[in-house]
Amino acid sequence: MPSFRKLPEKEKARMIQDRHLHSSSAPAGVFGSVMGELVEAGEIEIWKTGEVVSPVRAKIGLSSFVDEHGGMAAGHGKIILFGEHAVVYGSRAIASPIPLAVRARVLGEDDGVWLAFPRWGVERRMQKDSTRLTSFEAPAALILGELGLADRTMRIEVFSEIPRSMGLGGSAAVAVAIIRALDRHFEVGLSDDAVNALAYQCECIAHGTPSGIDNTVATFGQPLVYQKGASPSFQPLHLKQPIAMIVGMTGVEGSTAEMVARVREGRRRNRTFYDSVIQEIDSITVQALETLDSNDLVLIGELMNTNHGFLRRIGVSSRELEELIRIAHGHGAYGAKLTGGGGGGSMIALFPDGGNRVVEAMRDAGYQAMEVRIG
Ligand code: PMV
Repeated sequence: MPSFRKLPEKEKARMIQDRHLHSSSAPAGVFGSVMGELVEAGEIEIWKTGEVVSPVRAKIGLSSFVDEHGGMAAGHGKIILFGEHAVVYGSRAIASPIPLAVRARVLGEDDGVWLAFPRWGVERRMQKDSTRLTSFEAPAALILGELGLADRTMRIEVFSEIPRSMGLGGSAAVAVAIIRALDRHFEVGLSDDAVNALAYQCECIAHGTPSGIDNTVATFGQPLVYQKGASPSFQPLHLKQPIAMIVGMTGVEGSTAEMVARVREGRRRNRTFYDSVIQEIDSITVQALETLDSNDLVLIGELMNTNHGFLRRIGVSSRELEELIRIAHGHGAYGAKLTGGGGGGSMIALFPDGGNRVVEAMRDAGYQAMEVRIG
């Protein structure tokens, strides 16, 4: 039987109170498949699920989250502006952190390794038997093994405000936050590059054959151009002016592994077509790089539209993504596209005026949306 431990009543009461205090700004914190597993295991209680489904704030001001968790190790969420999927095949991609993060800390514990999600009132003792690890334990076990900490006892607490499977890099951010928390607690002395490399290994568990872009942004927390390769490379991107984007979330979980596998299978069947799409996306990304520098928003928007057209052609969009993109265009977006793996997840849109009205329209249509600033 999996070994679960419920929180003491006093602590639970504190967290219920805490949730009410922050109810208007409570982050939606979910990652990987942990939620499904915990629900199945009967470990999520009604008082906590309210927090999980609470709307993501329209305008992200992280004050309450940072006040509470500011001192902790962090991994950043991200959006991909240009080049998802093509990046898996060696093309360039542009990504930026968003002000949603996962934070973690490590505390002393007498017995075993406990993985805790205090905001959900759940904690779980990690299995010793590696064949019985759940999908959210497996990356933590890998990290402990790689850092030579598998025999130590501890309690790892994770606080996520990145919605699960929404194409916003939640799993990579969790890995980075846990690695950094362990690094701090046990004074391992990891460099950012070492954090990034280990987070990439975790991503391989979660996604099979990731490009490495998510863990790179989660680690370095800055806009960048990324290219996979024998040794992956990235360059920080310095925008002259920050660009406001709207992120619309479908609420439909997109499986990055599934979408990447779908593209791989499509490419296996029709190599010429897929390679030409990958090539096109790469040249859009290169053009976008030059355009971002000149801050030509109209052209950036057009490039986003064209990029999305190619993503549609390789079958990674969805009905909900298309609806959000239609809403964005209906409100005068310069450009809109899916972001991340697709098949659900999130989209981004660029507006001349920041797009405040569209956030309401997306919400009225039953989706969640927020404004983020890039750069
Ligand atoms: O869905 P996300 O946030 O994990 O983004 C995936 C991006 C892909 O290009 C589709 C895959 C990858 O590993 O780069």
